[in-house]
Amino acid sequence: MIGRQIFALILASLASSALAAEGNPAAGKTVFERTCANCHASVIGVNKVGPSLWNVVGRKPASVPDFAYSEAMKANKEAWTLGALDAYLADPRGDVHGVKMFFKGLPDPTDRSNVIAYLQTLK
Ligand code: HEC
Repeated sequence: MIGRQIFALILASLASSALAAEGNPAAGKTVFERTCANCHASVIGVNKVGPSLWNVVGRKPASVPDFAYSEAMKANKEAWTLGALDAYLADPRGDVHGVKMFFKGLPDPTDRSNVIAYLQTLK
């Protein structure tokens, strides 16, 4: 009896950690609109203070045409994988030294995984 309850508890915690790792795109859209949209558009071909983030997941950094990136971002050769985005958004200015993104970052890992899940929908 107790064994079965423990098993159910383990299953429940596995399910919730899988959710946290994947992120929630709807919640991420809210984070994006609140914290990124002043500087970034989600549609192709629209650059604001920052480059369009359409289809950013998996692409090479500094690859939006007609956007004047910093030298530091142009020198960044690591593709925007989920892990690279997570590290960048945690501390933009510390991660790729000297970038022009004047944004302190998203300290909350849940906000980051949600906004990254939303970025994955932009394609
Ligand atoms: C104050 C304006 C500003 C805010 C707020 C901001 N960004 Fe940026 N972002 C920029 C600028 C400017 C760059 C270009 C940086 C460079 O060239 O060094 C950039 C670059 C990026 C890049 C690299 C794009 C590429 O084409 O390589 C990503 C990814 C990114 N931002 C994501 C985000 C996300 C997600 C948020 C919200 C959580 C956010 N940014 C908030 C201004 C901003």
